[in-house]
Parts: sequence; structure tokens; C-alpha cells
Amino acid sequence: MKQYPPRIEVVGNADAVAERAAATIIGQLRDRQPVTLGLATGATMTPLYARLVTATRAGLISFRAASSFNLDEYVGVAPQSPGSFRAYMQEHLFRHVDMPAERARIPDGMAADVAAEAARYEAQIAAAGGIDLLLLGIGTNGHIGFNEPGSDFASRTREIRLDEATRTANAGSFPDRASVPRRAITMGVATILDAKRILLVATGPEKAAAVAAAIEGPVGTACPASALRLHGNVDVLCDESAAAALVNRPYTNDRRRA
Ligand code: GLP
Repeated sequence: MKQYPPRIEVVGNADAVAERAAATIIGQLRDRQPVTLGLATGATMTPLYARLVTATRAGLISFRAASSFNLDEYVGVAPQSPGSFRAYMQEHLFRHVDMPAERARIPDGMAADVAAEAARYEAQIAAAGGIDLLLLGIGTNGHIGFNEPGSDFASRTREIRLDEATRTANAGSFPDRASVPRRAITMGVATILDAKRILLVATGPEKAAAVAAAIEGPVGTACPASALRLHGNVDVLCDESAAAALVNRPYTNDRRRA
């Protein structure tokens, strides 16, 4: 399988990463309308969405002609429940911007038939003409979306069992350990790789090992994010601490650049 080195940019801290990532999305919203975005949840994305909200309020961008597909949602968590990814997206982005509600799509974690919901979601993405720019975070175990280690690179949107490490990382959104969901519905690795362009964002020292495995480790299912090296149009944006375990530096803006 042909591999493509991602474009890697290392900037000082999480704020600088949010600024650069927001600039990429703002550029896309200005250049290409209608645009279909792929969106992610998580602490990494919060300062980035805050910048998109500020830019929208300032009249610099509009989501009027945009559509979005979120990567994933917990199974069995109602959209109104504060731990859901729908609630996260409402709070941090959707309720503040002018994207028509019916075009802000997230898999339905309450669907009675999750396999049918997954197939419906794939069909919706295809009907929208695919994803132009997909925003991705990375789990400490190398997951993308909720594609846990072992996920097949040919996988499509489906139900997945969450690793205990992932449940621990995400426990903060739930009142107690027992309420942390065990299952989720996620775009598959192949669904992610179908996006025309991908922007992976990682901040903080707890992501350093996963970032190094994704970029410099073997390409394989042990690290789902390593699949991004099969894509050819991927930007990786890290702060210094998330980039700390990379060996083959320098990268763009690398302070250690010779
Ligand atoms: C999750 C999401 C991922 C996200 C990752 C990292 O739970 N399913 O899409 O990228 O964890 O999240 P954080 O930014 O909070 O570290």
C-alpha cells in the first residue's frame, strides 16, 4: 500500500493550535460553498470551536451554506443528555452559528437498530457528495473517531465497543464510572479516509505517544490513526507537547529546526 507522509505543523501551545486549526476551517468556509465538514468532539476541539463562533459573530464567516457530519456518538445516550456528543456540539458550536439545524448531523445513538442507523449515516454522507474537510482528534490509544485499536481499515460506520482506556479518558462527562457508555456508533476508518482533506489536531503531553505511533510507527490496525498515512491529503497540527515523542523532526514551524 502506498504511503504518504502527512504535512506536520508544530506550534507552541494549545491556543496556537486552535488558532491555526480555526484558520484552516475559516479558509475552507470562505473558499468553498457549499462545504461539507466532518466534525469531532473532545477537549481539543473546544477552543477551536470558540474561535469559529467568534468569527461567525464578527461576520467573517457563515455556516448558512455548510453541512456537517460528526464522527461519532455514544449508544444509549439521549441527545439532550449532557454527556452526549450532540449536547457537546450544541453547546460549543451549533447553537451559536447559522448552520441550518437539519444539516448538522450526528449519528443517532438512540436508534433501535444501530446497524440500520450506521447504513443510513453512510448513505447521507454519500448523498451530500462526501466530506470536504474532516476535523479529527486522536485518542491516547491512537483511536480516530471511536475506531479503537484493532479496527479494520476497511471499516465503515458501525457500532463499536469502547476500550476501557477510552471510557476512563471520557469519564469526566458523566456523573460516575457506571454511567460512562460502553458502546458508540462511529464513522469507520474507511469512511474517514474517504474525506477529501483531513486535519488531525493534537495537544498535550498525553497525546505524544499516540501522535508518534500514528506518524512514525508501523501502519497497522494497532494504531488506527496510522491509517491516515494512506490518504495523501492530511495535515497534522500539534503543540510542542503532543509532538514531543516525534523523532524525525524538523517539521514546519519546529522550534528545534536546524
Ligand atoms: C473521543 C472522540 C474522538 C476524540 C478523542 C480525543 O472521545 N471520539 O473523536 O478525538 O476522544 O478527545 P480529547 O480531545 O478530549 O482528548
